Amino acid sequence: MKNIRSLFPIFKEYPNLVYLDSASTTQKPHSVIDAELAFYQKQNANVHRGIYPLAAKATQAYEATREKVKQFLNTPSVKEVIFTSGTTDSVNLVASTFALDRVGEGDEVVISAMEHHANLIPWQQVCLQKGGKLVVVPFDTEGVLSLADFEKAITDRTKLVAVTHVSNTLGTVNPIADMIKIAHSKNVPVFVDAAQSVASHVLDVQALDVDFLAFSGHKLFGPTGVGVLYGKEKWLNSMRPHRFGGEMIRDVTFKRTLFAPIPQKFEAGTPNIAGVVGLGAAIDFVESVGQTVIKKHVDELLKYATNALKNIEGLDIIGQAKEKSGIISFILRGAHPHDVATILGQQEVCIRAGHHCTQPIMDFYELPATVRVSLSVYNDFDDIDKLIKGLKKVQAIFA
Ligand code: ALA
Repeated sequence: MKNIRSLFPIFKEYPNLVYLDSASTTQKPHSVIDAELAFYQKQNANVHRGIYPLAAKATQAYEATREKVKQFLNTPSVKEVIFTSGTTDSVNLVASTFALDRVGEGDEVVISAMEHHANLIPWQQVCLQKGGKLVVVPFDTEGVLSLADFEKAITDRTKLVAVTHVSNTLGTVNPIADMIKIAHSKNVPVFVDAAQSVASHVLDVQALDVDFLAFSGHKLFGPTGVGVLYGKEKWLNSMRPHRFGGEMIRDVTFKRTLFAPIPQKFEAGTPNIAGVVGLGAAIDFVESVGQTVIKKHVDELLKYATNALKNIEGLDIIGQAKEKSGIISFILRGAHPHDVATILGQQEVCIRAGHHCTQPIMDFYELPATVRVSLSVYNDFDDIDKLIKGLKKVQAIFA
């Protein structure tokens, strides 16, 4: 992707940086950084409160992003877009209201065995609190879920399915459209964690007919501390607010409170206004490049990197699904993943090592940790070559 790298100031600061950790967080283009700065310099005021012109400007900028998210996800209504602090916050919102109120003794929530802890613990805690059961759909050694197993896991006690679109550890792309169809054929709503797919996969919530979908701004070239929860209007209207405070009310007395309609009902307190504005710029950036173009680029890098890694003796790739996003986990026999990460880091090659907030995946493969490489729009073949060179250095040290 010619010239894309020059849009990201971090690469000016560190011209030799090989950033292969975009699944953790993406780098930010000028336009996103500038939008946040410009908000503070030219538009800063609280939203939905003041009636002076500057406050109106701030509110306009904040709500403009909601409109952008509506277009980006093709939500039927702007009211179905809730700003949160990130995917984790979005999952917790749905767990602490929708799930908590619907799951009773003996009821079930279905997840997959490849969920990030953020899309596991909130549902687990609801089940523990309410006497429900967390039903886990397994994956095979390649890192693939079986739709037959998924279908079997849904019973007449299932209250919700929560599944990741792309595994942050294995890179597996789950067939969410089919999963949603199966769940809906049994009248079960579906929550999709789109944190790892949002930058490279077109997400059309109406085409998917998904009930809830969440993503974080910072994995979409946007700021940290801001995210989105999409929910179908009928569900959001039926849910109680999860947090209380300013701006989420219609009327308050000491005896009772009448809550504001959606989306304000779920946005108590002063939001991350500049972050939301930055998210709007991030969406503009992604749309200017095109998710299809990003996906094609990442797919090419994935193929190149997978082949190169396979040629390293003593290296095992963990997760070999046919449908994969730009994430590759692996182990290098004889070297602990943390040592691999440290030595690569010294060569300005940034990768993540650890359990990647997916300890059940580590348990399945009987590994303490993996090395994880994740690819994005600003990477090129040269980055992969430097990674391979670095890994050979690691092997030479541990030989
Ligand atoms: N969820 C992020 C990751 O997978 C932090 O690295």
